[in-house]
Amino acid sequence: MKIGLAGTGRMGSAIARRLMAVGHDVTVWNRTAEKARALAAEGAKVAATPAELAGSSEFVITILTDAKAIDSAYRGRDGLLSGDVAGKLFIEMSTVRPETERALATDVGKKGAAMIECPVGGTIGPAKDGKLFGFVGGNAADVVRAKPVLDQMCRRVEHVGPIGAGASMKLAINLPLLVFWQAFGEALALCRPLGLDPARLVDIFADTSGGPNVLKGRGPALAAALQGKDAGPITVDIDAMRKDLRTMVEEAKSLGTELPVTSRALDCYDEAAASGLGKGDITAIPVRWMKRVGKN
Ligand SMILES: NC(=O)c1ccc[n+]([C@@H]2O[C@H](COP(=O)([O-])OP(=O)(O)OC[C@H]3O[C@@H](n4cnc5c(N)ncnc54)[C@H](OP(=O)(O)O)[C@@H]3O)[C@@H](O)[C@H]2O)c1
Repeated sequence: MKIGLAGTGRMGSAIARRLMAVGHDVTVWNRTAEKARALAAEGAKVAATPAELAGSSEFVITILTDAKAIDSAYRGRDGLLSGDVAGKLFIEMSTVRPETERALATDVGKKGAAMIECPVGGTIGPAKDGKLFGFVGGNAADVVRAKPVLDQMCRRVEHVGPIGAGASMKLAINLPLLVFWQAFGEALALCRPLGLDPARLVDIFADTSGGPNVLKGRGPALAAALQGKDAGPITVDIDAMRKDLRTMVEEAKSLGTELPVTSRALDCYDEAAASGLGKGDITAIPVRWMKRVGKN
């Protein structure tokens, strides 16, 4: 199938590689053209504009930073929606607020095209291996149409409701995860006087109710970061997770509720970014807190 993918960042590149590996004819577009070069060398076609990408694809996947990026890629000059896209299916996978997806689906519908959202759980490794968890929102018929491709990207696909439901679910899933990274740093601060090897600490936590699933996948990288060693490639940076935390807090406000623990976690992430860690891997959050205690 001819699949277009806009946004060859960390996730988009891994997803494009997966789609090529299972035999699709993949065309990519990225705002910063250099970041699509590695994929071109691996066999992807490169479109000069989002409009060209949409014109040459049956399905168009987008996985971009935030609502502003979505607006620009879809509605900007030479954007995905600027040409004739009637009959095409858009799969929007960014982590944004439900209202962003709903407004986009309305605009896509006006052009005679269909859209589902499928924000995902899992990071670069699962994306490359087709093992993401997809939180899908959209009309049943559109979801059925997208399902074969969703199944190639995801180990599990949950259709949780109409457009916007996937975004709500994804924000909810990320909430305890992002609070966890800060909470784990605080837990490690309590363990600091024990002087145990961080790898052993992470292993102990991973085998208890205090350790979430993420420690199974990211535990070794976290242990390396705690030991001051190379933790491998950045999977998700702190600035991106500040964006998610801010989005959660804004969404809660619009629902007339508050997220006190999440808001406080956002303060801690903001402090980490202010200390120069914004482009660093998420594992720097607990590492920073453990070190910070050392200075007190
Ligand atoms: N990394 C993860 O583990 C993970 C997991 C699940 C979900 N997500 C979500 O997936 C999305 C992408 O994440 P990522 O980690 O792949 O981020 P990333 O590596 O920073 O890539 C972001 C992409 O968005 C593009 N972009 C940003 N602003 C733009 C704009 N104004 N116009 C056009 N394109 C723009 C970037 O283009 P340039 O190259 O030109 O900057 C890049 O292609 C985010 O919503 C994130 O929350 C990430």
